[in-house]
Amino acid sequence: MPRMEDGADAIAFRLAYGAGAEKGLVPAFHGFAAGPGWAMMARMLAIIWHSRTGAARALAEAAHAASGGRSVLLAAGEAQPEHLLAAGGYLFACPENLGTMSGAMKEFFDRSYYPLLGQIEGRPYATMIAAGSDGQGAQAQLDRIVTGWRLRRVAEPLIVNLGAQTPEAILAPKIVPQTALQSAAELGAALSEGLATGVF
Ligand SMILES: Cc1cc2nc3c(=O)[nH]c(=O)nc-3n(C[C@H](O)[C@H](O)[C@H](O)COP(=O)(O)O)c2cc1C
Repeated sequence: MPRMEDGADAIAFRLAYGAGAEKGLVPAFHGFAAGPGWAMMARMLAIIWHSRTGAARALAEAAHAASGGRSVLLAAGEAQPEHLLAAGGYLFACPENLGTMSGAMKEFFDRSYYPLLGQIEGRPYATMIAAGSDGQGAQAQLDRIVTGWRLRRVAEPLIVNLGAQTPEAILAPKIVPQTALQSAAELGAALSEGLATGVF
C-alpha cells in the first residue's frame, strides 16, 4: 500500500488540485480544510455519494460534518480517479435502485475502476446505503467492485431503510431519521480519525 507521505501521493494530490482548479472542479471538494500540508491532506477521507431523493446525500453530509474538516465530499458525477488517488480512504454512499446501486454511482465506478486498479490496494473503506426496504443488492455489488481494487472494509455496512413502498413515497424527498444521521456521523468521525491518526 502506498504510504501517504510518499512523493507519489503528494504529487497525486497536487495533480488533483491543480487539474481541478483549472477545470473548475474544486467546488466539488466541499469543506476541504485549508492549510494543512500535503501529507496531512493525503490522509483525508473521501466521501463519494449519489442520491436521487436526498437520503444518501444527507447521510454523506452528516458523515462529512462529523469529520472535523478531515473529509472531502464528492458527488459521484464529479469525482475523478485523481481525487481517490489523493485521499487516504473512502466512504461510499448511495441508494439502492432496482436491486443494485444507483446508476450514477455505478457510472462513477465504471469510469474509475481501471484508472485506479492496482493503485489504491489496501486502503480502508466503508459504505452507507439508503434503501426503501432492502439495500443488500447495492451493498453486495459495491463490495464486489471494491474487492477488485483490494480495498479493506474497516466498518460494518450501514444500510438505512426509509420504508418507502408506494411510487409516491419512493419519489418523494426523504427525511432521514436522526438515529440514522447519528450512525452516519459516527462513521464519518471514526473513519476520518482513524486515517488522521494512522490507525488504518
Ligand atoms: C427507481 C427506484 C428503484 C428503487 N429500487 C429499490 C430497491 O430495489 N430496493 C430498495 O430497498 N429500495 C429501492 N428504492 C427506494 C430507494 O432506495 C429509497 O427511497 C432510498 O431512500 C433513496 O435514497 P436517495 O434518497 O438517496 O435517492 C428505489 C427507488 C427508486 C427511485
